[in-house]
Amino acid sequence: GDRVSKLPEGFAALATSDNAPVAAMGRGNLLGLQFHPEVAHTPQGSRILANFLFNIADLRATWTAESFVRGAVEQIRSAVGDDARVLCGLSGGVDSSVAAALVHRAIGERLTCLFVDNGLLRQGEAGEVIDTFGRNMQMSLVPVDASYRFLEALSGVSDPEQKRRLIGNTFIRVFEEEALQLGEFEFLAQGTVYPDVIESATPERPSAARIKTHHNVGGLPSDLRFKLVEPLRYLFKDEVRRVGLELGLPEEIVWRQPFPGPGLAVRILGPVNRERLDTLRTADAIVRAELRNAGLERDIWQAFAVLLPVQSVGVMGDFRTYADAVAVRAVTSVDGMTADWAQIPYDVLGRISSRIVNEVRNVNRVVYDITSKPPATIEWE
Ligand code: XMP
Repeated sequence: GDRVSKLPEGFAALATSDNAPVAAMGRGNLLGLQFHPEVAHTPQGSRILANFLFNIADLRATWTAESFVRGAVEQIRSAVGDDARVLCGLSGGVDSSVAAALVHRAIGERLTCLFVDNGLLRQGEAGEVIDTFGRNMQMSLVPVDASYRFLEALSGVSDPEQKRRLIGNTFIRVFEEEALQLGEFEFLAQGTVYPDVIESATPERPSAARIKTHHNVGGLPSDLRFKLVEPLRYLFKDEVRRVGLELGLPEEIVWRQPFPGPGLAVRILGPVNRERLDTLRTADAIVRAELRNAGLERDIWQAFAVLLPVQSVGVMGDFRTYADAVAVRAVTSVDGMTADWAQIPYDVLGRISSRIVNEVRNVNRVVYDITSKPPATIEWE
């Protein structure tokens, strides 16, 4: 909708498009663009940025995972000081795992990781987190089963933003209570990454259009007792992964697909309860297992099942059924900001569908989501 209609004094148009008579303009070393070179879909976008940075602005590329880790470790040490202890919300996802490993590198045993099982995790996930961090990496890890608190808070709630707020608030309350049991903590470390910051209205971007409230950014209550440590706040996912490898985290964790903080609650449209969680969990495990068997996991940014608030008619043997529908969502993406629906081979989709209707109680229909982002988002809520 925006266009430059009149050039400033001394500027020349350097590029045009059907929509924009001045898609780029310049005067000497001053350059302006009226499009997005940074999004993955712009052809040669990275090249345009690189030319500007290295040929025009004369900068050098000194960012490496190693230099980032060095700088971040120093920053964490100076922010936290010599005595304070840090509590980390470890979810087992890439972001919080890398954040925890980074803080651990900076302050060692003054970091305690709290793993809150909110009851909204995928199949087998809680056990995996405890094994990886507690047993293998020997961090101080405290697991807490708080699923009943989250389910109670979510009872009867359908609105996606309200779900996020309730989950965010419950999460922080559980944290505060558990922290009290564990002693004095001044800081809370979180795996907030840059896309979370961009998509939420936060103190540094008060005017950002609010697309979704990310629970680790926007939903924090104002009476929060902790100071925040968010070492990944300005990184994109590919950078977070490079940092994770640099810190020696196992590949299974570094290459794990992103999973939203509010978990399966934003993949169950309508109210969330134990029964619907079980249904979704079983269907979701099938989606992921079949993609893994087909060797497609790494090519796909995220793949999961969504439980729809829709019942439809089916036939099972000689009987008419009237049961739930599941949507399969799989997208490719570089950074989660834009995404394409993944062109999964039909035979893999077929196996996913027949396994779900055969193995998941109360589901008789599977549909595949063929919308990209934009205009859709990756999650359904
Ligand atoms: P959308 O659905 O906005 O998702 O296209 C972009 C990426 O963000 C993840 N996501 C979330 N992560 N809290 C999170 O921590 C949230 O509330 C949330 N909502 C979406 C989503 O899984 C995708 O990777």
